[in-house]
Amino acid sequence: MPSAAPRKTVQDEGPKAAYPFTAPTEPAKVPAPSRPVDRPGPVNDSSEIISSELDDSSAYGTPDYYAVADYRSHPFSPVPRRVLDGSEDIGSTPAAVTSGAPTELQARTVRIYKPVKTATQSGDWHGHSWKMDWDILQKGHRWENPLMGWQSSSDFMQGTKLNFASKEDAIRFAEKQGYEYFVQEPNERKRIPKAYASQFLHTPGKLKTIRTKIEVSPAAKIATLPTLRLAALRRILSPSTTPHSARSTASMSSSTQHVARPKAPAPWKELFIAHTSKQHMESPEFVLSTVHTAPADSPVPYVPRARYCIYRGMWAELPPNEHNTAPTNARIFASDMPTFTTDVRMDKVPELFGSSGGHATDVAQAQGSGGGGPVEAVWWVKDAGTQWRVKGEAFVVAPDIEGDDAAESSGVRTVKSEIGKRMYFQQDAEGKEGDWSWNTELTGHFGSFKQPSPGKPVSEPYNEQEEKMGEKVTTLDDSVARRNFRVVIIRPREVEKTVLTDPDHSRRYRYTWNVDALQWDTVETWP
Ligand SMILES: Cc1cc2nc3c(=O)[nH]c(=O)nc-3n(C[C@H](O)[C@H](O)[C@H](O)COP(=O)(O)O)c2cc1C
Repeated sequence: MPSAAPRKTVQDEGPKAAYPFTAPTEPAKVPAPSRPVDRPGPVNDSSEIISSELDDSSAYGTPDYYAVADYRSHPFSPVPRRVLDGSEDIGSTPAAVTSGAPTELQARTVRIYKPVKTATQSGDWHGHSWKMDWDILQKGHRWENPLMGWQSSSDFMQGTKLNFASKEDAIRFAEKQGYEYFVQEPNERKRIPKAYASQFLHTPGKLKTIRTKIEVSPAAKIATLPTLRLAALRRILSPSTTPHSARSTASMSSSTQHVARPKAPAPWKELFIAHTSKQHMESPEFVLSTVHTAPADSPVPYVPRARYCIYRGMWAELPPNEHNTAPTNARIFASDMPTFTTDVRMDKVPELFGSSGGHATDVAQAQGSGGGGPVEAVWWVKDAGTQWRVKGEAFVVAPDIEGDDAAESSGVRTVKSEIGKRMYFQQDAEGKEGDWSWNTELTGHFGSFKQPSPGKPVSEPYNEQEEKMGEKVTTLDDSVARRNFRVVIIRPREVEKTVLTDPDHSRRYRYTWNVDALQWDTVETWP
């Protein structure tokens, strides 16, 4: 019986000596199996294909390398010594032990991981399941196959991968088997949602630059263009020498640009104004519907909102108001755009910003002028048997509408451009637009907006000095009322007049704004 030799690692002896790998050019060297004298087990014979030597100081938790396994007859299950002699309370015997799996398999560590998606394909099917694979054995388990020069391996677990539906399943399997394991968490891909419309979102600070070409430093340009003439070189090195004509277009003020305006008042306007006057409606109430961003746990992105509001008149044509003595604009402009007033603290204001092309997500972004979200406004003129339905977008006018041009926000620019191009001149007023003021028009709508925050529970504290129900505003400069007060302009895209006076001759008239022709197209339809 051979005596126990000192422990040797596979690396110590190199590939040829480590069992069971032998270079094919040499006769196979199967080391003489050895069994410690104090170990029970079958007598070694040629059927024993593995034996290793370990001293008794083998680390706690490692398999019993003294165990002798005969894979062919399976007379022996390599149960670790600590399990055999009861020195470890393991609860239940690992499945790998009871199944008689080879000792060297039990000794190995498995990796539990989630494969990454292939970089060259967009499909991510392979990244759906969790996998388990085995640690890579050292070079002693490989040799160069002399037939083709390929690598051969005796690692029977090489390339074996187990699939699991979840990480937990894989861990449960590893624990059941008694494998040492570690979990490699996947690197989650960070998705930055991008929307074309966000280019038009207002963010304070310098104008956004969308780079469409890779920026090359002047020095690099010179290096890549050695034959550049002197004049061209100067232009690159000092951009201020760029010809004036090339720059002047970019800085051209929008106020000098020609605005294409509607050719005539809308064909529905006269009757609409008559129907909403005192003659037909005691108070020109209408239902305004907006689009409200749904709560995070909602299955839909938006929900509708509707409420009554009071129609105040067409933008730029505000009728005289005995309660508001503010100076008004001269009759220079007219429009087909109904207005109402509101409080910036109400939901409809952020709704008009949030559902607009700019997709504002924050109430803070809805404090100035802007918006442009979709709305429908409906008037029922009972005594005229007529319903008016106005579909379009609504824009908010805030105190920032006029001021220092340089500080104009993108919201102000949007309102001025989108509303401005639907304003047309009153008779003989062309050329007098310089006398017309957005701010004067805003102040002309001014009313009392000093009540405590709308929608806030009355049980919560509020600023009693500044906010009171029914508080009258005595001055146009009232800072609290000014801060809360907004004018909303509905820019109609389609107007529907449903006439139900005579049941036999009911009709619906659809008026659609023709952007190219700058006029309204009319269609008579069944109601
Ligand atoms: C007859 C009537 C007229 C109203 N007029 C207006 C109005 O002109 N502007 C307004 O913001 N709210 C008006 N309200 C209040 C709104 O209906 C609504 O309650 C409030 O604006 C809050 O809505 P919101 O939080 O959805 O914006 C009126 C309510 C009634 C009953």
